[in-house]
Amino acid sequence: MGPLASRIRAHATRGGSSDCGKLFDTPMPPSIDVRLESLTRSGLEAPAAALVQAQPSGQGATFYIETFGCQMNVHDSEKVAGVLLGRGYLQVDSPEAAKVVFYNTCSIREKAAHKVFSRLGEFRTRKDSGKIIGVLGCVAQQEGEKIFERAPWVSLVCGSASYRKLPELLDELEAGNHRVTGLDKDTDETFETEVTRRDNPYRAYLTIIEGCDKTCSYCVVPFTRGPERSRSSALILEEVRRLADAGYTEIQLLGQTVNSYRDPSSRRVSFAELLAAVAAVAGVRRVRFTTSHPRDFGRDIVDAIESIPALCDHVHLPVQSGSTRVLRAMQRTYTREEYLEKITMIRSARRAISVTSDIIVGFPGETEQDFEETMTLLEAAKYDGVFSFQYSPRPNTTAQHMPNAVPDEEKGRRLIALQTRQRDIQTAHNETLIGQTYEVLVDGASRRAGQWAGRTSGNRVLNFTSPRSDLLGQYIQVRVTHAGPNSLAGEQVI
Ligand code: 5AD
Ligand code: SF4
Repeated sequence: MGPLASRIRAHATRGGSSDCGKLFDTPMPPSIDVRLESLTRSGLEAPAAALVQAQPSGQGATFYIETFGCQMNVHDSEKVAGVLLGRGYLQVDSPEAAKVVFYNTCSIREKAAHKVFSRLGEFRTRKDSGKIIGVLGCVAQQEGEKIFERAPWVSLVCGSASYRKLPELLDELEAGNHRVTGLDKDTDETFETEVTRRDNPYRAYLTIIEGCDKTCSYCVVPFTRGPERSRSSALILEEVRRLADAGYTEIQLLGQTVNSYRDPSSRRVSFAELLAAVAAVAGVRRVRFTTSHPRDFGRDIVDAIESIPALCDHVHLPVQSGSTRVLRAMQRTYTREEYLEKITMIRSARRAISVTSDIIVGFPGETEQDFEETMTLLEAAKYDGVFSFQYSPRPNTTAQHMPNAVPDEEKGRRLIALQTRQRDIQTAHNETLIGQTYEVLVDGASRRAGQWAGRTSGNRVLNFTSPRSDLLGQYIQVRVTHAGPNSLAGEQVI
């Protein structure tokens, strides 16, 4: 990883080794060996750079931030970094070099939450190092002041709805306070910043809706990120224009349920209209959005993708289970049949749209028959990619107290069976793509000359060879020559 890419260290929690925003992101085939090269642009937008000089209250103090979890967290870390840079703080690559160390945490599954405490444990023997250790994100919101008991060397705990207060919280610590918290959830504002530091020089993430109002019985997100709050369409479009002016060509709109977007302004722009408006901004070549909830996924979104080439042909539409009985217990608000109707609608679009999903195995009470229905749904949906998880009981959720827990060993068996079946489906499908030509946005270069990696509009990783030497950030036509279950390989069409 290059210096800039590593500055906000991000850990994936999805699919074992990938994460929410990085679909199809799997190890490269051994022959390709692609790594992300140093990202050359500053990562800080021009107006922001001016702000750094204007407000030097951090006075050169250093900070380090490590991110766990989903794309929303990765982007929140970019915003936190932007706010601190705007106050004169300097970002460094290691906790050792930092005065302020932040962990932006994830609590979607137990394992992710544990990881944070093991990271904090590393400071047990270095309590008097003079550093400020802060816990941000979902574990902060969920555990609150209990974190101080478990790791007394932590001095700041702050959930995502309170990040705008971070500079003041740091000032309080500098003024002699030992413990500060920002744990409000009821703010009706979204976390808007004047300064956002972006760590991918080609793709800019933009949160359009925060929080979640759904009540999926297994999910901790509504408790950690609070209720849904949408940003006004005018502000979103203003930011997209700034991003395009700064040279970003791909915009990814984010939300836990991104398609539940409701414009709070009097314009009342629908989600599909917003997609069209973002795609129409001069300089924008690709628009992605994640994650969609099936209940709010309508024909108008498919129509928009069909008719606007800049809207990427990819929809992430988590099903969670193929059994209507389990879906009801999960409170997902749709049946297997209703979900499959949405898939048929997407599949019948005039241009091929990739569909990916999230699936949980071993939900309380999931029988062998229920699980079999999830397996047959894989065949019916023919997903282009699936992130699959063993059910993990979470605090505050209703599923936590449901009877008939599935033993861990059985959950593991179901997970492997599901992943094996899905891998076969992907291998068979990807082989049909050999010979096709796709446009990719090049985002990686190999150490070896002439080898590159990019993503198709459908979000597939496509590794390829080219005689050219300056491809990073460019859109290139590539013909597919080899297919694996998780990525394609090919050569540039000259
Ligand atoms: N256990 C396992 N997986 C979960 N997810 C959410 N909550 C849990 C849980 N308690 C999965 C869902 C969701 C994805 C981000 O994480 O599949 O779509
Ligand atoms: Fe969690 Fe359900 Fe909201 Fe997704 S829609 S964040 S799974 S509660």
